[in-house]
Amino acid sequence: MNSRPYQHIRVEPLSSALGAEISGVDLARGLSDEVFAEVRRAFFENLVVMIRDQDLTEDQQCDFAARFGKLTKSAGLAGTSRVFMVTKKATDRGRNVGGHWHADGTQMERSPLGSALYALEIPPYGGDTMFCNLYMAYESLSPGMKKLADSLILVHSGTMGYGGQGHVAQDVIDKRPEMYDFEAGRIDAEHPLVRIIPQTGRKVLYAPSPMSFYFKDMSVADSAPLIKYFQEIAEKPEFTCRFRWTKGALMLWDNRATYHYALNDYHGWDRTMRRVQIEGERPFGPAKPPTEAVPEVVATVRAADPVVA
Ligand code: SIN
Repeated sequence: MNSRPYQHIRVEPLSSALGAEISGVDLARGLSDEVFAEVRRAFFENLVVMIRDQDLTEDQQCDFAARFGKLTKSAGLAGTSRVFMVTKKATDRGRNVGGHWHADGTQMERSPLGSALYALEIPPYGGDTMFCNLYMAYESLSPGMKKLADSLILVHSGTMGYGGQGHVAQDVIDKRPEMYDFEAGRIDAEHPLVRIIPQTGRKVLYAPSPMSFYFKDMSVADSAPLIKYFQEIAEKPEFTCRFRWTKGALMLWDNRATYHYALNDYHGWDRTMRRVQIEGERPFGPAKPPTEAVPEVVATVRAADPVVA
């Protein structure tokens, strides 16, 4: 990655795959346009950024996230608030929210560009969040597999994902039923498996998530081995990074170019996070042309190490 130096902020990469910590900003006071432009560039270059030691009200968190785009409600979230509390109590047993590799809201027509997650309460150990770089996943494919991937449309189905045989764990919903609106989450979308991220002009493997069940024009059975294959590529340890939380940390991730995994290794402790989501463009790529104006390229991103490929 040949990033231009930053003038107003400090950006420290976390791994050679993705992720960085930004320091030198106080989000509660608001950012000038110059400083925000650097934070935005650092975000698109590193895909996930964490800014520690922030003291943010809900409104301040929303105001910061809204500088990246319109805020959008999480799919399947009850009520009118755009804020989703990601909570696990000391007394909770079983699965946590997001305790598997996934991207948020992939069944939405405009699946989120990104999320801003703020740590209100964190356990003394555990509760890290892992991410993987979907640019690297795409680049690691052989030319023949790239050609196949470029041609595929994946069906992301909230209809199949929520309830019944779905992948959304019922025990997670049962713990806080007031938070979820089953019907609102039961929507479907067809997205290209390979999408272009407008702000970098590069391709990602928009890999199958727990809401993806089959490729367009293929049966569920035909799709299953391919889905598994692409998921395993995306989750390769070499393409990941892992963030340790501290209270008051604000994290922002590109939900189109990464997958994340909230680790469930802090049983007996509370973990309380506040999440807001930023609306994305309609996914486009080689198999699906854009249907609206495409934002300009503003950032370069890290490329896959050929040794890993
Ligand atoms: C999520 O999947 O959005 C939750 C991430 C986390 O709690 O670390």
